[in-house]
Amino acid sequence: MFLSVKNTSPAGGRPPNSGFTQNDWEILASFWHPVALSTEVADKPVGVTLLDVPVALYRTGPGEGVSAARDACPHRNARLSLGTIKNGHLTCGFHGFEYDGGGTCVRIPALSPELPIPKKLCLDTYLCQERYGFVWVCLSHAPRAGLPEWPQVEDGSGTVAIVPPGLWNASAARHIENFSDLCHVPWVHTTTFGGPEVVIPPYDVHKSGLSLAFEVNMLERVRYVEEGHPSATQDAQYNRALYRYETTLPFSCALRVHHPDTNSTYRVFDVGSPVTAQTTRIFQIVVDESRQVAPEALIEFTERINDEDLSQVVAQCPQDLPLDLRDEIHIPADRMSVEYRRAMAELGLGAARPD
Ligand SMILES: [Fe+2]
Repeated sequence: MFLSVKNTSPAGGRPPNSGFTQNDWEILASFWHPVALSTEVADKPVGVTLLDVPVALYRTGPGEGVSAARDACPHRNARLSLGTIKNGHLTCGFHGFEYDGGGTCVRIPALSPELPIPKKLCLDTYLCQERYGFVWVCLSHAPRAGLPEWPQVEDGSGTVAIVPPGLWNASAARHIENFSDLCHVPWVHTTTFGGPEVVIPPYDVHKSGLSLAFEVNMLERVRYVEEGHPSATQDAQYNRALYRYETTLPFSCALRVHHPDTNSTYRVFDVGSPVTAQTTRIFQIVVDESRQVAPEALIEFTERINDEDLSQVVAQCPQDLPLDLRDEIHIPADRMSVEYRRAMAELGLGAARPD
């Protein structure tokens, strides 16, 4: 009913009742995460959630960059995302307080103009940038890494398609581990790209900084038969594909699929954005270097792949990714997920510290 007469409300940081431990929250908050499509933030504020923190995104005008702030007006903690953009300012819908792009209050309608605006009336702002068609936010003011580098999205390598983000009731770690799990492909992706080979050839994982990469040659189901992709010119149901997966900690992965027979290349860039500990918004971009497939077909195919994964990943129990390797059983095909779990533990995640 009441907060204490002593001020105990946190000024920032992990919200009360967060599903993340304080340790994990602080580590994950020091990375950039996508929170929205750039196109989603237009002429009114948008509310999103990152690591349990409600965040308001807004542009002070057309063509302006996106600002990010805690989705709470410091006056009465109303949701700023319920407000509007007025006079080039984010305007709280409750009492009309106006904030500029830097989060400073510049107008209080109920305050006599000759009286000063309280200096403490500033929003809790976050680092925010737009790239690859996404709005990225870092909740820490000292990010420990930049954004993943995905040159093919920006350099005209091929047809670029941004997949509408989906919301999964799964942890970001379970999602991203699934993305580079080859073992499940012939079992789960039976109507998309899964091939007939169930034995996964041995492979090595190469670690460099925050990145983990491996390559494997597999037989996969021909993609885009109806859409005129070069693969379809072959008179075969399956074709050879060289997969290269590169995961960037904590939650992004770039997949390159190369078909040597047709010399065509197809890429998927995938990021799991941790909304809560067990809810993840999936951001994906597909680049088709063959330029033979319409963006709508690239999106539709990727969504079908996601649908195949979804039912399995949301049902994994526990939803939290075990970082003690003894908690699940691993086979050689799981080399990548073993190294991913090790690397996440080396970041300090999963440390058994009291909250
Ligand atoms: Fe999958």
